[in-house]
Amino acid sequence: MAKQANDTPRNSRFAVKPPKPGEQVAPAQPSEETLRLLLRRRSVVANNMTGPGPSDAQIKQILLTAIRVPDHGKLAPWRFIVFKGPARKDFGTVLRKAFLETNPSAPEARLSLEEHRFTRAPVVVAVVSRVTENHKIPVWEQQLSAGAVCQSMLIATNAMGFASQWITEWYAYDPTIKIAMGLNPGERIAGFVYMGSTDQPCLERERPSASDLTTHWRART
Ligand SMILES: Cc1cc2nc3c(=O)[nH]c(=O)nc-3n(C[C@H](O)[C@H](O)[C@H](O)COP(=O)(O)O)c2cc1C
Repeated sequence: MAKQANDTPRNSRFAVKPPKPGEQVAPAQPSEETLRLLLRRRSVVANNMTGPGPSDAQIKQILLTAIRVPDHGKLAPWRFIVFKGPARKDFGTVLRKAFLETNPSAPEARLSLEEHRFTRAPVVVAVVSRVTENHKIPVWEQQLSAGAVCQSMLIATNAMGFASQWITEWYAYDPTIKIAMGLNPGERIAGFVYMGSTDQPCLERERPSASDLTTHWRART
């Protein structure tokens, strides 16, 4: 079987520090490696994940990287909940119970699937979108920033040598689950970012054509 992410060197020694406020930074950093990563990036479906996942220090590095997104108004309209170790199994019990409540005739096989969702990967990070209402920065922009965090998290996770997938599934929208996760009113799940490794081949999928999606605006005469 083709080894993919498991053959990738994990960058456990990567501890790149962000600049301090006011420190001069390069306005652009040409990097073929970054382009390659972005152009060849693929999600690994959670079902195909195995260990190892990022260590605590690596999770810290991933989150440190992920929060460096554009954020209109500097509101930090996001926060994180990390699931690792036994917490993933404990959360599975919550998922099973919530699923059974809304699907009382669900067969055992389905309940078991729900119970094991978070143990598919060694680490799952919930990105919580938390918006400030009635602020001059539109809620939409605050939510977009949370989406940017999710994407940066995927990229940082890949750059650390791990597989990743951004998913929501039903439990991102379930009121019982939101309470169990400790979400405050108005907070929403932007995504669950699954992190791990894989021993499955990872194939490119069809992509839309960027040029088909692009027009050039011109003034009407
Ligand atoms: C907000 C959001 C939610 C998603 N939720 C799911 C999901 O619940 N299940 C799923 O299989 N893929 C979901 N995806 C898609 C995957 O993250 C991923 O894009 C897909 O597997 C295609 O792989 P790629 O990232 O390599 O293009 C979601 C994507 C986004 C942006």
